[in-house]
Amino acid sequence: MALPIQIVPSVLPCDFARLGGEIEALDRAGVDHFQWDVMDGQFVPNLTFGPDVIAAARRHTDKPFEAHLMVLTPDVLAHRYVEAGCSRLIVHVEACPHLHRTLGNIASLGAAPAVALNPHTPVSAIEHVLDLVDMVLVMTVNPGFGGQSYIATMEPKIRELRDLIGRRGLADRVNIEVDGGIGPSTIEGAASAGANVLIAGTGLFRYTEGLEFAVRDLRAKAEAARAAD
Ligand code: DX5
Repeated sequence: MALPIQIVPSVLPCDFARLGGEIEALDRAGVDHFQWDVMDGQFVPNLTFGPDVIAAARRHTDKPFEAHLMVLTPDVLAHRYVEAGCSRLIVHVEACPHLHRTLGNIASLGAAPAVALNPHTPVSAIEHVLDLVDMVLVMTVNPGFGGQSYIATMEPKIRELRDLIGRRGLADRVNIEVDGGIGPSTIEGAASAGANVLIAGTGLFRYTEGLEFAVRDLRAKAEAARAAD
């Protein structure tokens, strides 16, 4: 049984001066959950959300929050983001010398553990922790900023990951997420390759027809592409 297509906004392009209202608008538009791009200015050359900002936004929607931890010290920060209301934490394999232990620690905090791969990192880097995660994020941009161009050469990597998950008998348990440059002209390639959780930031807000239309259109495109594959 294939895991459902999920359209998930990155909060990065939101108007931070009106964050609560932006979260409510995205909720009304029908997104499945929310992704917070947490950046520490060390792992990536940008700085974004502390746990208190996420905790403040928590009361504006009942939908789940996930934190994409683009940070050098995920073991130090993980509990803060769970306490802030995130039910999934995504750590980067490149920042985790003890990834197996880090993922186990996230599970012990009561959150769903997930792992992200930067564009240069091979699927093999996470093959021995697939049993510990509920999702693998294949970055389709180099992390740090929204509004970048989709790296289409990641599609064979997504297919490779889908095949590995299938061989391990985990296709009904482990989601494949893509993040970066996802919009109406790129979502079909990502979904066809095997991604079922699609992070859209700039690409979502660029629709002139509004957020509700954008979410519906992206979901329809992703579901049609997967059905055709
Ligand atoms: C990169 C960020 C972005 C953001 C979405 O570090 O993770 O990928 O979520 O960006 P766009 O605007 O490309 O959807």
